[in-house]
Amino acid sequence: MGKTLLLLSLLLCSFIIDLEASRQDLNQPYRTGYHFQPPSNWMNDPNGPMVYKGIYHLFYQYNPYGAVWDVRIVWGHSTSLDLVNWTPQPPAFSPSQPSDINGCWSGSVTILPNGTPVILYTGIDQNKSQVQNVAVPVNISDPYLREWSKSPANPLMAPNAVNGINPDRFRDPTTAWMGHDGEWRVIVGSSTDDRRGLAVLYKSRDFFNWTQATKPLHHEDLTGMWECPDFFPVSITGTDCLETSSFGEVKHVLKVSLIETLHDYYTIGSYDREKDVYVPDHGFVQDGSAPRLDYGKFYASKTFYDDVKKRRILWGWVNESSPAKDDIEKGWSGLQSFPRKIWLGESGNELLQWPIEEIETLRETQVKWDNKVLKAGSTIQVHGVTAAQQADVDVSFKVKDLEKADVIEPSWTDPQKICSEEDLSVKSGLGPFGLMVLTSNDMEEYTSVYFRIFKSNDTKYVVLMCSDQSRSSLNEENDKATFGAFVAIDPSQETLSLRTLIDHSIVESYGGGGKVCITSRVYPKLAIGENTNLFVFNKGTQSVDVLGLNAWSLKSAQINGERVSPFSECEDSHSLNQY
Ligand SMILES: *[C@@H]1O[C@H](CO)[C@@H](O)[C@H](O)[C@H]1NC(C)=O
Ligand SMILES: *[C@@H]1O[C@H](CO)[C@@H](O)[C@H](O)[C@H]1NC(C)=O
Ligand SMILES: *[C@@H]1O[C@H](CO)[C@@H](O)[C@H](O)[C@H]1NC(C)=O
Ligand SMILES: *[C@@H]1O[C@H](CO)[C@@H](O)[C@H](O)[C@H]1NC(C)=O
Ligand SMILES: *[C@@H]1O[C@H](CO)[C@@H](O)[C@H](O)[C@H]1NC(C)=O
Repeated sequence: MGKTLLLLSLLLCSFIIDLEASRQDLNQPYRTGYHFQPPSNWMNDPNGPMVYKGIYHLFYQYNPYGAVWDVRIVWGHSTSLDLVNWTPQPPAFSPSQPSDINGCWSGSVTILPNGTPVILYTGIDQNKSQVQNVAVPVNISDPYLREWSKSPANPLMAPNAVNGINPDRFRDPTTAWMGHDGEWRVIVGSSTDDRRGLAVLYKSRDFFNWTQATKPLHHEDLTGMWECPDFFPVSITGTDCLETSSFGEVKHVLKVSLIETLHDYYTIGSYDREKDVYVPDHGFVQDGSAPRLDYGKFYASKTFYDDVKKRRILWGWVNESSPAKDDIEKGWSGLQSFPRKIWLGESGNELLQWPIEEIETLRETQVKWDNKVLKAGSTIQVHGVTAAQQADVDVSFKVKDLEKADVIEPSWTDPQKICSEEDLSVKSGLGPFGLMVLTSNDMEEYTSVYFRIFKSNDTKYVVLMCSDQSRSSLNEENDKATFGAFVAIDPSQETLSLRTLIDHSIVESYGGGGKVCITSRVYPKLAIGENTNLFVFNKGTQSVDVLGLNAWSLKSAQINGERVSPFSECEDSHSLNQY
């Protein structure tokens, strides 16, 4: 066995499926049934998602050596036919060159006009400086793109005395786009020493020789480092989406992940192709006041254009909320959000998100309610969802007596704070009403996702959406911060919808038809397996109508095989032939 072969088989060994351990057993109650995760170990940012020859690819920041982050970070890789079931591939690349010897960090894929995908990624070089590198597929006939080769020309972009870029703050290249002059453009996140966030712009004719533009694409003072920028067009005429280099009937979106808050913020605006600058629309500022893609645990997100279904799909890293010792004990850390379709809402000033339709292939038993009155103070169990720990619930509410809403205090401008302070025991006119998920038999443990409606004056209402983890687990060591957001909906005109994806340790909620998303991580001790229940509740003093409720048990997807036993040996496995 040659050295390479030996290495390869060792690599494969680490992916071996331990069938004995694969049952959702009490040792692993928090592994997900349909949210993406590697067989084991640490995962953070999604990298370079794409579809190539009909196969979906997701790369991800992956530590093959353990359940916590490590400098030897590599590009993990999985492939899928449907974005739901995933097969693990060997990591695409790991630190090997002077330009990435201290880590292969985040980046993106660009599909060249001849159809070849190319990866731009950040390497940490010998001097611990952040630089941008390129990798190309070894065999473009292989739809699984299992082997990648790094260019000897790396790094392609590096901080130096002339450009003055801080070597500790220069990372996460976006998918490149081609301008009207035939030149490629790409942005890289950065910031100056006085906390001005920057989307540094580079241009190239051939994708290898890159020149820094005189101005950044966009910048904003006092925002700190911009991580994982994402820049893409959205159609102003429909929910179909556009390839990254498209122009015409479009608006542009710039998303940045602010390291100072660990949240993802977007603005909608215009890209001036002549001046090569992006200008957010009136009312948007690229800082912590901008709308968020998700108001819970969700960071370092990235979109890609799916030319198979003409849609743009968003992935985001969903971090754990548990102490590192728990992650080490369970042998893994980090999930990806369920892939979301993302598009410009009709108002033109907000993005909408929705779970991709492929989730329907996992649906099993359905429970359906039509028109049910939720009396004040009621809690009604949704019976018949056979696996309430793995479910898709879609409910719509109509509230009649809006005049009974409490008046919102002028000082209540921070939705997360209102959600945190006003717990469920506080009664008000309208709400809280919503779902109690991952609820234990004795109702000791539950995670609630709910709305409250306030009046701002006689004719205008404020809708608050909360995801409350304070009672989600008897374990007190987890981060149980409650999340909240305002939903731009007029409850006197529109129904209020809530869709929640429940998956063992993640609760991903879409309010107002995808105007607001909130993702929570929870670690119940009692609400596990058969002992998991689902309720609809209304703790307000006025009744609320449930116009419709659909709840489906979801079967497990094939997510990179099941759990990997750290002790499994090659000889024990029958699954090697799947490679
Ligand atoms: C690291 O720094 C040394 C000294 O400044 C320089 O000679 C060398 O080229 C640098 N290496 C890389 C990979 O940039
Ligand atoms: C490239 O991939 C194709 C399709 O998987 C395969 O048939 C071919 O043998 C590969 N070529 C090399 C040189 O590995
Ligand atoms: C790289 O591109 C710049 C700007 O287009 C050009 O001036 C330079 O000669 C190019 N360098 C190489 C090595 O091709
Ligand atoms: C991830 O979660 C841990 C534990 O709650 C927390 O300490 C850390 O700041 C989080 N990191 C990010 C990027 O969200
Ligand atoms: C209520 O507030 C909205 C916007 O804040 C304003 O346009 C409207 O005139 C107000 N209505 C009343 C009756 O004060």
